Amino acid sequence: MLSAARRVASNPASLMRPMSALTHSALFSTSSSAMAPTNVKNITVFGSGLMGAGIVQVAAQNAFNVTMVDLNPAALQKGQDIITSSLKRVAKKQFPEDAEKQKEFIDQTMSRVKTSTDSEAASKDADLIIEAIVENLKTKQQLFAMLDKVAPEHTLFCSNTSSLPIGEIAKATKRTDRFGGLHFFNPVPQMKLVEVIRTDATSQDSFDSLLDVCTRMKKTPVSCKDTPGFIVNRLLVPYMMESLRIVERGEATPQDVDVAMKLGAGFPMGPFELADFVGLDTMQYIVDGWRKEGKIDANLVAPVKLLDDLVAQGNFGRKSGQGFYSYSGVGGKK
Ligand code: 3HC
Repeated sequence: MLSAARRVASNPASLMRPMSALTHSALFSTSSSAMAPTNVKNITVFGSGLMGAGIVQVAAQNAFNVTMVDLNPAALQKGQDIITSSLKRVAKKQFPEDAEKQKEFIDQTMSRVKTSTDSEAASKDADLIIEAIVENLKTKQQLFAMLDKVAPEHTLFCSNTSSLPIGEIAKATKRTDRFGGLHFFNPVPQMKLVEVIRTDATSQDSFDSLLDVCTRMKKTPVSCKDTPGFIVNRLLVPYMMESLRIVERGEATPQDVDVAMKLGAGFPMGPFELADFVGLDTMQYIVDGWRKEGKIDANLVAPVKLLDDLVAQGNFGRKSGQGFYSYSGVGGKK
């Protein structure tokens, strides 16, 4: 297998890209490992929600064999529906006005996707396992502790967590050298970035394999140490919390803040649209966790009543039909 590091070394122009394996080698100390880099072909994704389904789709679109795992057939069906409707958009874009090619693209992609409710069987052939289940440390640790016993020795483990320390999740396994973070962004098929998280224990070979997977998924990887929020959420969440404070102090309306940030800063969505998109419950969960962890300046993650009230009322944003805005149909603003 041609590792990401070797490919970068043979192409000096890639040094200009946001991230290269060479840059990473310089930034991070390397730990030795007895394992060789893994040539990932088979990926198993745990969790068939928006993120899990998105990861499955992007992997299958890029020639990986993927198994999507969830607790029951209904959840898997929802995941498959997310993938099918997103694939239709991608197919229309790739093959405009060629219905036959669109169908062929969708069928070929879906032929690489298997579903399963049997975690053990689904892990037997996996080269890489990506977890995108509920954001709960204990639940993730339990899952990985079980997988550590049944997955092949060479299998790499990754979490897509946006708020929990990767090192803490990895502790539940005996393969901390083959454990890292792959943090995708919503909507996964559209957002080009993946944050690749390396703990102190992640080996260079594992890290190179993860970079290679991102590149083969046609994503741009950036690397970050195992720190709260990594890069994007560390910047994005405090910004969104400060937007809430502007509204809470009565200085501007959510609508005006959104217009301001779209037209004044060129963001694709304003912070309130984005909060509804990400999920207000998710946002609250992230700041509550960071506050408890105590690693981030307390002022940045101070609670905001406006957010807490909306979440307490069950108004989570797009997913519940009501957040800062009202939604009807599939994500449409009323
Ligand atoms: N599947 C495939 N393609 C999709 C898609 C999906 N689910 N959703 C959108 N797209 C594509 C569309 O096909 C379209 O492609 P084109 O421009 O090539 O034709 C493009 O995205 C734009 O879509 P739309 O025209 O329907 O809508 P918008 O122009 O309003 O864009 C958006 C939608 C891409 C979501 C854009 O508003 C955006 O980029 N918003 C910011 C999203 C963001 O910040 N995400 C990160 C959130 S933080 C996170 O995920 C971390 C987590 O840990 C909390």
